[in-house]
Amino acid sequence: MSRLIVISNRVSAPTAEQPSAQGGLAVALTAALREADGVWFGWSGETGNGRDLRFETYDGVTSATIDLPEQDVEEYYDGYANRTLWPLFHYRLGLTEFERDFQGGYERVNRLFSEVISPHIEPDDLVWVHDYHMVPLGWLLRQQGVKNRLGFFLHIPWPPTRLLIALPEHKRLVEALFAYDVIGFQTREWLETFHDYVEREMGGTVGPNDEVTVGGRTIKAIACPIGIDAREFIAGANGEVAAQTLSRMAESIDGRNLIVGVDRLDYSKGIEERFHGYQRFLETRPDARMNVSLLQIAPPSRATVQSYQEIRASLDALSGRINGAFAEIDWVPLRYVNRGLPRDVLAGVYRSARVGLVTPLRDGMNLVAKEFVAAQDPEDPGVLILSRFAGAAEQLDQALLINPYSPDEMADAIEQALSMPLDERKARWRKMYDNVCQEDVIWWRRRFTDTLSAVEPAVA
Ligand code: ADP
Ligand code: F6P
Repeated sequence: MSRLIVISNRVSAPTAEQPSAQGGLAVALTAALREADGVWFGWSGETGNGRDLRFETYDGVTSATIDLPEQDVEEYYDGYANRTLWPLFHYRLGLTEFERDFQGGYERVNRLFSEVISPHIEPDDLVWVHDYHMVPLGWLLRQQGVKNRLGFFLHIPWPPTRLLIALPEHKRLVEALFAYDVIGFQTREWLETFHDYVEREMGGTVGPNDEVTVGGRTIKAIACPIGIDAREFIAGANGEVAAQTLSRMAESIDGRNLIVGVDRLDYSKGIEERFHGYQRFLETRPDARMNVSLLQIAPPSRATVQSYQEIRASLDALSGRINGAFAEIDWVPLRYVNRGLPRDVLAGVYRSARVGLVTPLRDGMNLVAKEFVAAQDPEDPGVLILSRFAGAAEQLDQALLINPYSPDEMADAIEQALSMPLDERKARWRKMYDNVCQEDVIWWRRRFTDTLSAVEPAVA
């Protein structure tokens, strides 16, 4: 078996400081790394001027991280990754900043990664690079003489060609992808928008068997939707902590129907639009009003970036206005919590909700939607309301699919969810549950690495 090398901006392998792997991706990849005796490389999340990788092996998994100088963090992570690529790839041209310094920092950090990591890559290793922070890394590793099979997975959407060409260096960025042997997208939709770019902007062709060819170089581009660690999540939802959470929630909602939203505090998640939709529901259904309560959990994210500070301020104001306008002396319509929750508590919160409200304006996948489904009680499942613009909508088509830009559509869906008969709730939930269990994170990881193992390695 080949060793697996994982490279991503954030490393979530378990360490002595953080002994349990956080999140589905971490669980799936650490299991694979443990089996394959691999290494997970990335940024430590700290600033510093050393160029040395710090290796740590914990519970059979090795991670290797490097600090980055402050200027690199500003230009690469805050800058090009989160002020240029993130908004652009989430269709938000108006929020996208185009600064040469950002691009310089991005290439500098990717080059640094290629230089420090390449000496640790052995000839038979499978190398798997993750996400928009590291698009050019494969090309730079090839410059370092790496001839291994190289894979890349994009966790976020691929933007329409007409948006992508607003990026001054769009050609350079996309050409770099052709250094990989396999590239993976979350959905068919993002794969097709990538095909469109290749045909229009690069004169390339899309062939059979997922092949894409540009200028004599053929790679595989696949749709490979990420899943959750369903088994672990279901166990969590049936565990002791979730049960305690369930009774705590039952006490606090006092017989009302709980609607829940859980997201990183990010403008792509449509939280503002969700609040507007809920407000529309409260305005237009005065009789149903007192029977519901919305709990929104949104820990701050990327807080040094201005657009994130702005969305946080907007949500603070909007949540205050909604409560100011509708609260009664014994009821608040909206509970807004800016804190993350432990995963087993989260599972209990999902399970106590009658409605999961997942309304991103654009999302590569959205794992919260899958976690909500996994956590439900099979005998009395809640209803998922899901934005049709989330990647998860391709698999979870039994959710109530809505356009998050329309407060009326959202208000109607809330009403439909609250009055849905048990039989219909069960039938919709069962189909989604089967999908979440079958196409889980282990399935995703195997599908990608099997595809990568099967290709002929590129000649650098
Ligand atoms: P993104 O990767 O853009 O943050 P996803 O929905 O795909 O969005 O994944 C988010 C992950 O972070 C999920 O596993 C979710 O459970 C977790 N998460 C989000 N918000 C919270 C929170 N408030 N507390 C705990 N975990 C959270
Ligand atoms: O899923 C997209 C993603 O950007 C991941 O790559 C990232 O680790 C996660 O969201 C959280 O973002 P950040 O690492 O910037 O906190």
